[in-house]
Amino acid sequence: MKLAVLKETLLGERRVAIVPETAGRLVKAGWQVAVEKGAGQDAGFPDELYEKAGAQVVGSAQEAVAGADVVVRIQRPSQEEEKLLPKGVILIALLDPLRNPEQVKRLAEAGVTAFSMDAIPRITRAQSMDVLSSQATVAGYKAVLLAAARLGKFFPMMMTAAGNIAPAKVFVLGAGVAGLQAIATARRLGALVEAFDVRAAAKEQVESLGAKFVHVDLGESGEGAGGYAKELSEEAHRREQQLIHDHVKTADVVITTAQVPGKPAPRLITSDMVKDMQPGSIIVDLAASTGGNCELTKPDETVEVGGVTILGPTNLSATLPYHASQMYSRNIHAFIELLVKDGEVKLNFDDEIVKSCCITHEGQVVFAPLQAAAAK
Ligand code: NAI
Repeated sequence: MKLAVLKETLLGERRVAIVPETAGRLVKAGWQVAVEKGAGQDAGFPDELYEKAGAQVVGSAQEAVAGADVVVRIQRPSQEEEKLLPKGVILIALLDPLRNPEQVKRLAEAGVTAFSMDAIPRITRAQSMDVLSSQATVAGYKAVLLAAARLGKFFPMMMTAAGNIAPAKVFVLGAGVAGLQAIATARRLGALVEAFDVRAAAKEQVESLGAKFVHVDLGESGEGAGGYAKELSEEAHRREQQLIHDHVKTADVVITTAQVPGKPAPRLITSDMVKDMQPGSIIVDLAASTGGNCELTKPDETVEVGGVTILGPTNLSATLPYHASQMYSRNIHAFIELLVKDGEVKLNFDDEIVKSCCITHEGQVVFAPLQAAAAK
């Protein structure tokens, strides 16, 4: 069994899909691991560490892929890189299939069996493979650090010889994986934290981190299928926006993470609300890649309006590449273990996890949500 680890090529992507620790485990389990030269360099994993772990470092992606059963990456391949994938190979990456149906079609036509790590079901057995959670944890943490580094204020309360300093106020919108990590990080830095989510279950989690859950009667449940949020009705959205307007006015930092699966991000902060914010305050919009929770967010740009700074980073986990890679690599290792039986790659489509995240196989698009979208 041969597995290829490729160097990421997307601008700003510093992570690597397999770190040396995982490479060593795969080698022990009988894999030949071929790593493209420099693949882990930007994440803090030089080639020597892969070699020490028993992997082979090779000069090009083409060499790594030759004869491989499985190719692993973080980002989906570019159209050029797709051409390197031989018929029948298994590709494991973050393919975001619903947003990239054309690429999925091409991979199917090329006879690639593609698995998308972002489609791993959120079930207990798959928790160790959950890259959405591991990478959102990194993003939530880093969002707070970005805000803290820009804010002209301390986060903690201070009692100094120069007088007392009030703690910063942080408001977190969306208390899923990223939001909860943002709350925990802001609390560790000593800020006063408030948070809101449309899912009732989030209240207890927010409070257990020492933050205040702000409440509004939405007049309906915000919960949809599978423990995720649903899109709100117009009236519930209006009520939520009123609550948000009241809270952003006094916040120093607003971190937004609200997402509804398969939909554009809910628009929570309007430009009128931004006008009412304090000068010097910061918004970090982690939903920038799906349209943004703030009306003024521009993906990967810094927008300044009336003294308020709005950041819309779309790939924050790549900015903490060592641990983001380590977590992704452990996730991917747990998934690869599902694909092997008796020392051979054998795909078991009776396994819910394997079936749910398989996007293309034997020339066909097999990802159920894409098939459903195509049938509409
Ligand atoms: P996500 O990235 O889809 O959304 C982030 C947050 O935004 C969610 O908490 C959602 O409720 C919230 N949101 C959506 N619309 C909103 C609105 N209009 N206003 C305010 N907040 C809004 O979700 P994420 O972080 O990937 O996970 C969400 C939930 O999924 C978790 O809290 C948990 O219940 C479940 N989950 C289960 C796992 C498992 O069992 N293996 C693993 C990870 C998550």
